[in-house]
Amino acid sequence: MDRIIASFLNPEKLPLVIQPTEKKMRLLDFLTLLKDNSSFFKDKLLKHGGILLRNFPVTSPEDFVSVIKSLQLGEFCNYIGGDSPRNKIVEGVYTSTEAPPSIKLPLHNELSYVKHYPNHIYFYCDIPPIAKGETIIGDARTIYNAIDEDVKNRFIEKKLEYVSCYPYKSDFMNFVNKSHKSWINVFETEDKQEVERKCHENDIAFKWTKNDWIKISQVCPSVISHPDTHEMVWFNQVHHFDFNPKFLGWWRYAGAKLLYCRKHTRLHEVAFADGSKISRDDIYHVMDVMDQHTIRFPWKKGDVLILDNILIMHGRETFTGKRRILTAMTSNI
Ligand SMILES: [Fe+2]
Repeated sequence: MDRIIASFLNPEKLPLVIQPTEKKMRLLDFLTLLKDNSSFFKDKLLKHGGILLRNFPVTSPEDFVSVIKSLQLGEFCNYIGGDSPRNKIVEGVYTSTEAPPSIKLPLHNELSYVKHYPNHIYFYCDIPPIAKGETIIGDARTIYNAIDEDVKNRFIEKKLEYVSCYPYKSDFMNFVNKSHKSWINVFETEDKQEVERKCHENDIAFKWTKNDWIKISQVCPSVISHPDTHEMVWFNQVHHFDFNPKFLGWWRYAGAKLLYCRKHTRLHEVAFADGSKISRDDIYHVMDVMDQHTIRFPWKKGDVLILDNILIMHGRETFTGKRRILTAMTSNI
């Protein structure tokens, strides 16, 4: 392991930065190094939660796929049930999000509102943003510990019910709200029977509504323990599913109120699983804690960031101009 050097960018020690000691490492040598030392990377991920591979010869989405395969952390998984607008680049690799650059995406664990969430999520910096546009990260263990005990206990006891409504085609919705996908995009099929099969497979309750819309709902825990380290983590997306001014800003919030005045077209709703309302104070407290524990670092072209999706949350800062960050996910075999 004298071919790599480890360091940190910040006092939080997240992510662990791994760089080559030699000036020019060949891709094949890099992939071999990852394969031969996969248990080293697994151990570091369990401890720190995130690793940034920097200054290695990763120059394309295909190289990114090869890096993920060499790490051997799990099988590629798709984005079934995911609500973020994304484009598929190559098999298993998507654009990280097509959500408007002016919206900040707060910290979250990927797909924490579905039964089969990925164990690891990966990001590859193809075009670094000129200003801002960081992929923000935060330690879900620290956030779990920092949330007020009363709030935390309410969420633990009651669990969460996430509700989403998706149209057959999202032409109009996409025009008004770029983030509102169609169910064809969400389930990656046009076949209603296939949608129903995927719902059953993932414990998603569903109902076909007016004009070929679908309403889906899932009950999920608010916190979980990591399967390997047994550490407790905050693991939900209550703050993404609640449309509020703090998340959207006042103008977008007013627009969303207008756009989603009809219940069966409402993109997202969230409540406690017993049907009781979650107070905005609780949601704002959670968002404040996340803001206090948000870590930022600038992207460099060719960077690959690997996150344990249970231990570490991610999000995206606002940005202007070009930015192309690709993402992929794997699940434990
Ligand atoms: Fe995400």
